[in-house]
Order: sequence, then structure tokens, then C-alpha cells
Amino acid sequence: MSALLFQDWMRNAQSGMEDVLATLLPPETAAPARLHEAMRYAVLDGGKRVRPLLVFAAGELHDADRNALARAAAAVEMIHAYSLVHDDMPCMDDDALRRGKPTVHVKYDEATALLVGDALQSQAFMVLSEAGNDPARTVAMMRVLAQASGSAGMCGGQAIDLASVGITLSLAELEQMHRLKTGALLRASVMLGALCGRMPDATETAALDAYAAAVGLAFQVVDDVLDATADSQTLGKTAGKDAVDHKPTYVSILGLEQSQALAQKLREDAHRALLPFGDNARRLRELADLIVQRKA
Ligand code: IPE
Ligand code: IPE
Ligand code: MG
Ligand code: MG
Ligand code: MG
Repeated sequence: MSALLFQDWMRNAQSGMEDVLATLLPPETAAPARLHEAMRYAVLDGGKRVRPLLVFAAGELHDADRNALARAAAAVEMIHAYSLVHDDMPCMDDDALRRGKPTVHVKYDEATALLVGDALQSQAFMVLSEAGNDPARTVAMMRVLAQASGSAGMCGGQAIDLASVGITLSLAELEQMHRLKTGALLRASVMLGALCGRMPDATETAALDAYAAAVGLAFQVVDDVLDATADSQTLGKTAGKDAVDHKPTYVSILGLEQSQALAQKLREDAHRALLPFGDNARRLRELADLIVQRKA
């Protein structure tokens, strides 16, 4: 367990991730150059890298292999970046600003944005396929990521999101949508980190999964709160868009105060789930705090 302060640990991990991503993405000099340039534009130089941080923190818990962790973290961030590129397209949320820059379809064009997402998804699995020397473990990791990003996870959640515009969802339906569209990939990040190291036993797996479910939901609750309370400059994306688009969100259904209270409760749930790990879970605890207390 490193003795670094959380902020220093986080900055090291983020800058290490930037280097790894820059290496694992196709170079701009390779043909088709415009597609490769747009892929790099979508992934590099922006984003909080929360999913990679979860991979690393879960890995610390299980003495994970560094190379495997870096590849797993890069793979999940590539899937996430692809989901953002598509989420911003006119056929979905129609957003012009992402990570403080014009969105990919605005900077390039819609067809390029579509292909950037497609190619990042393939690249993610390519990167993950070389994550370790143990083929069974590698297949297990690919399965975790595939399940979390497909129709049983992120894509499924996005489909519910788009079908729910202008509709009042029940709290249970809203929770399910959030667990799929955002929670699934955060959960996968924790499991991927764990799979890079000593195999967790059934009790540890259940504890990690309870933690991951809580922070996964908390992340989107806070995203909804920030959409309603923060400004575009701070967020690096268009604030206030959910209400304009008539999206069902925690804020529209529970109101601001109850949404903030729910995020705090989920943070406590996450902390409680980590109790069996003692101080070894320090980074995961700190990440739960970051996810709930972040301002962007
Ligand atoms: C935004 O994710 C989209 C959601 C899933 C809520 P992040 O808030 O992690 O975006 P970046 O990666 O920091 O830009
Ligand atoms: C998107 O949710 C979740 C994804 C799978 C990309 P949002 O539509 O709320 O994300 P933002 O607010 O645009 O980042
Ligand atoms: Mg969306
Ligand atoms: Mg959006
Ligand atoms: Mg949002």
C-alpha cells in the first residue's frame, strides 16, 4: 500500500494513464490519419479517468500485475470515451461541448464520430486481449467488459435513457437505467482491477461488488445533480441540458436535496462494504468520497 496522499496518488495514476493511452492508441501518422487523429482527440487530454482509478485501486487490493492493470484501465477508458462520443451525437443527446472541447462530431463530422466510437470499442478489446499471460483470466476480463458495455449494461441503459425522454419513470425504473448506463462500467472497472491480481474469494467478490454497485449508482446521481447545479465551464460540458431535454433524472424525480442525500447514503454503503478489507481498501474508500464530493 503506497503512503502517498490521495491527491498525489491520483495525479500519478492519471498522468501514467495518459502515457499508456497515448501508446495504445493508433498513431496519427498511420492511415487512415483522420480517423486516428479523431480517436486520439476523443480519448487524450481530458476526463477525470475515474474508471482507470477504480481499476488501479481495486488492483492495489490484490497485488495486481502492473502491465495487466494498465491495459485493463486503458480498455475501460476507451469504452467510456466511445460511449461519450456517441452520447453526444445529434441522434442521442446532441451536445457540442465535452471535456472542455468541441465534441467529436462538431470538430470532425458525424460519420467520423460514429467510426471513432466503433474503432475505440474494438481497440479496447484488442488492448485487453494482451493484458496477461493467463488465457483463462484474460477471457474472464474480456467477458466482464463485454457484458458491462453491451445491451445488458451501458448500451442497454442508453437505450432506456433515450426511450424515457418526456416520461415520468418510477424510482425503481430510474435506478435500473442509471445502474446500466453508468453503473455497469464502473462496476466492471472494480472487477477488472481485482481480476488482474490474486483471485478474490467469494466473500471478497461480494464485498467488492457491493462497493462497486454503490459507487456506480452514486456516480450518475451526482452527474444528474451537477447537471442541475454546476456551470458549463466547470463541467466542461453543457450544464442544464437534462431539464431542457426532458430527461428523467434523480433531480427531476427526487429533487435536489434528496438526490444529494441519496449520494451521501450510497457513499456510506460503499464504505461499509469495504470494512472487511481494512486499510488495504484506502484508495477505494477515497475514490468513493471523490465520486460523491466532486464538483465536476
Ligand atoms: C460522464 O462521465 C458520463 C457519465 C457516465 C455520467 P465522466 O464524468 O466520468 O466523464 P469524464 O471522463 O470525466 O469526461
Ligand atoms: C451518459 O449519461 C452515460 C453514458 C453512457 C455516456 P449522460 O448523458 O448523463 O452523460 P453526460 O452528462 O452527457 O456526460
Ligand atoms: Mg445521455
Ligand atoms: Mg449526455
Ligand atoms: Mg449527465
